[in-house]
Amino acid sequence: MLPNVSRPNATDHVPVLADEVREALAVHPGETVVDATFGAGGHAELIAADLQGSGKLIAIDRDPSVRTYFDHAARTGITRRFLRGEFSDVLEQLAANGSRADAVLFDLGVSSMQIDRPERGFSYATDAPLDMRMDPGAETSARELVNEASERELTRIFREYGEERYARPIARAIVRRRRERPFERTGELVDTIKAAIPAPARFGDGHPAKRVFQALRIAVNDELGSLETALPSALAMLRPGGRLVVISFHSLEDRIVKRFLRSRERGCTCPPDFPICVCGHEPELRALSRRPVKPSPQEQAANPRASSARLRAAVKTGNDE
Ligand SMILES: C[S@@+](CC[C@H](N)C(=O)[O-])C[C@H]1O[C@@H](n2cnc3c(N)ncnc32)[C@H](O)[C@@H]1O
Repeated sequence: MLPNVSRPNATDHVPVLADEVREALAVHPGETVVDATFGAGGHAELIAADLQGSGKLIAIDRDPSVRTYFDHAARTGITRRFLRGEFSDVLEQLAANGSRADAVLFDLGVSSMQIDRPERGFSYATDAPLDMRMDPGAETSARELVNEASERELTRIFREYGEERYARPIARAIVRRRRERPFERTGELVDTIKAAIPAPARFGDGHPAKRVFQALRIAVNDELGSLETALPSALAMLRPGGRLVVISFHSLEDRIVKRFLRSRERGCTCPPDFPICVCGHEPELRALSRRPVKPSPQEQAANPRASSARLRAAVKTGNDE
């Protein structure tokens, strides 16, 4: 039974795959757990409950506005630290300082609070300043990217990160439009995207600006780059027997996680024609399942934002396992 915890607008963000996260993290009292994407603290609340009053929670987030959720979370007797910053930097520093953890959780992407606050500029559904930075202090916002990146670079971003079929015509239309007047607002971008897509393609398959907005968000926040860097640091922090749990929301992230787990599950990396192993590599991880865990139909119905979630988890191998 979870403790009754009061958080500001605790209904803002519903933690996805809550039972599955709890099972994969397998938190025991006395352990140290890192929540690398604290958000509204929904998963952290479950972790704190499983620590049962003894242990340590290290919460990381690059969005300073989530600090209020951390401050309002119930004091449950555990040691708690909030580290604001990019998780790849924070985890690298922690690992380098010799900090160790028994479990690390990543719940990637943006939170409902970030999407639903129009002033953050993540949503194509409301007209707002073009921003999309998870860390409002970060140098580059969507406004700079849309107004300054070359047509070629915009095409690449829309194609690679958004899998947008009309990447090139949209990039061309953006460059043409910004020669007259720079983009300031999400609504202007949505109008330009819609006008650049052939009429029949504007209907079906979700909002016509959905893929471009996703692509810009990924690029603005370097989401794939920071995940690639963070996973080895998280592994370095884990004690043998420690659990690594990652929830991703699109195939690009999931592919990075899958490849990382596979590469660290492999032992010997010698060429297949070597008669004996000379590399001496041992597997570092053991995946908990081959296939990613998906939300149940009930969870998807109750929380449509959870629909694309994919959870992958692994245990660090080693003596104490
Ligand atoms: C999906 S939400 C997490 C929600 C949280 N698990 C909960 O239950 O409330 C993702 C959070 O991670 C943060 N985030 C995403 N990428 C990050 C990164 N590279 N470094 C630090 N924080 C990041 C976002 O700012 C956001 O608050």
